Amino acid sequence: MPTKPISQNTLFYGDNLPILREYIADESVDLVYLDPPFNSNRSYNVLFRDEKGREADAQVEAFEDTWHWGEEAEDLWNELVTHGAPNVSAIMGALRQVIHENQMMAYLVMMTARLVELHRVLKPTGSLYLHCDPTASHYLKIILDSVFGPKTFRNEVSWKRSSAHSDTRQGMERYGRVRDVLLFYTKSSDYTWNPQYTAYTQDYIDSEYRHLAPDGRRYKETDVTAAKPGGDTEYDWQVKRRSRSDEKWQSDLENEFRSPKRGVGI
Ligand SMILES: C[S@@+](CC[C@H](N)C(=O)[O-])C[C@H]1O[C@@H](n2cnc3c(N)ncnc32)[C@H](O)[C@@H]1O
Repeated sequence: MPTKPISQNTLFYGDNLPILREYIADESVDLVYLDPPFNSNRSYNVLFRDEKGREADAQVEAFEDTWHWGEEAEDLWNELVTHGAPNVSAIMGALRQVIHENQMMAYLVMMTARLVELHRVLKPTGSLYLHCDPTASHYLKIILDSVFGPKTFRNEVSWKRSSAHSDTRQGMERYGRVRDVLLFYTKSSDYTWNPQYTAYTQDYIDSEYRHLAPDGRRYKETDVTAAKPGGDTEYDWQVKRRSRSDEKWQSDLENEFRSPKRGVGI
């Protein structure tokens, strides 16, 4: 269905599911970063407690950090199972069988419906970063695999949020939960990637680049000979596919390997 027209730089306020469906066109977005709510401090006993019957969803405040299994979750689950892509439908069925009807399942259904829309609106060169934590990251990753395809998973970035907690002294019998998780997927294998660099620390510069050139630039002295005859280093050399074994090898400077041409390769 065509989306409603919007002007540039529109800021939306409200539930993102109807907004995505009504206003955001297919393949129109370069990058999605989502930091959805999740009250990970709730105990697993609460998250996985059976929620029998249909609780009144109206009692659950909009944007509350928890979800309950109720009519809305049931309807959305049915929609995903009935009309979702085969992998999405299958994963929704399987997850409900093992997780059952509880807050965790309601959360995953809510997230899946939105991830399906976010995948639709991403350009073929686009990327998605989902910010979550280990409470649900394992489920979200298989959901993302089913929506995006496992081959488009690029990284799981660990964000160390705090130093070690002091709860051990207060009786905690596990390692501190101190990191968040960023799951990075792309819409296709031909995606926009801008390399990121951070500055060296002064300690590193002082220990590694101890010499100063006359023009003021720092440098290091290092041994450029290989330790073994023939060299002890390996290099990636991307070459084009050859159609005949007597053809010369050619460097694959255009990254042809990302979208190989049809035909026999040697
Ligand atoms: C973890 S907070 C993100 C905070 C934000 N990234 C920041 O650093 O300030 C999650 C946010 O998602 C919003 N939210 C929850 N459900 C939503 C929905 N269905 N549609 C749009 N926003 C929603 C909440 O209101 C909350 O502001």
